[in-house]
Amino acid sequence: MYFIANWKMFGVLNTLNTLHKFIKFFRKFKKKRFAKIIYCPPNTLIRPMSKKLKNISIEVGAQNCHENENYGSFTGSVNSKMLKSVGAKYIILGHSENRQSGDTDKLINMKIKSALKANLKIIFCIGETISEKRKKATKRVLEKQIKLGLKSIKNKKQILIAYEPVWSIGSGIIPKNKDLSETVNFIKRKFKNNKVLYGGSVNSKNIDQLKLVKNIDGYLIGGASQDTKKFIDIIKKTYN
Ligand code: 13P
Repeated sequence: MYFIANWKMFGVLNTLNTLHKFIKFFRKFKKKRFAKIIYCPPNTLIRPMSKKLKNISIEVGAQNCHENENYGSFTGSVNSKMLKSVGAKYIILGHSENRQSGDTDKLINMKIKSALKANLKIIFCIGETISEKRKKATKRVLEKQIKLGLKSIKNKKQILIAYEPVWSIGSGIIPKNKDLSETVNFIKRKFKNNKVLYGGSVNSKNIDQLKLVKNIDGYLIGGASQDTKKFIDIIKKTYN
C-alpha cells in the first residue's frame, strides 16, 4: 500500500522537525515491508527532506513542474530535471488544484513526458467535479483525462494513478465504498496492471471505512498528512 503525503503549499524548514516522530514510528513498524511512504513537500523542502530520510526507506516527491524538459527562460519555474537533482523520486501531476489554475490535459501530458525523461515516477491525479458527478459523467471524465494525459506514452510502469474526486478534496466527504470500488475497477480496466490510489479527505477516522475497499492500492493524503500523529494513525489503522 502507498501512503503519499501531499503537503501542498504548507511547511517551512522547521516543519521538518516533525519527521523525527515519523521516522521513529516507521523504524519500528512491523508491517513496514507492506507500506510504501512518499512525502511530497513544497519544492523548498525537497533537498533537506531527502537528506533527513536518506537512511530510511521513505521517498520524496515533488508536486508539479514546468513542462519543458530543458532549461530555459521561464521565470519562477522549475523543471523535472531540477526536481530530480535535489532528491525527488516521484512527482504529482494533474492535481485538480493545478488543473483549476490552468493545467490542461495536453499540458499535463507534456509534463508527464518530461518527468518520465527525468526518471521520476508519476503520481497522476484524475477526478470529476461535483457537477460532473451529478450529471453522471464521472466515467466519461476519467476516461478522457486518462486518454489525453497519457497520450502516446507507451511505458506506463512508472505511473501510479490517484483518483481524487474534486468534491472530496478538503471537504471531509468521501465517496460511498460501493461507488469507490466501482470507479477504481473502471480505472484499472482502462489503465491495465497499474496501481490506483484514492485521495480526498482521507483521515484517521474514515480510514476504517476506506480500507474495506480492497482494490485500492494506497492513499494520497493532504490535510491529515501534515499532522504526523494523524498520518501515523492512518497507516496503523490500515493494517489493523
Ligand atoms: P485532503 O486530504 O486535504 O482532502 O487533500 C487531498 C489531496 O488533494 C491530496 O492530493
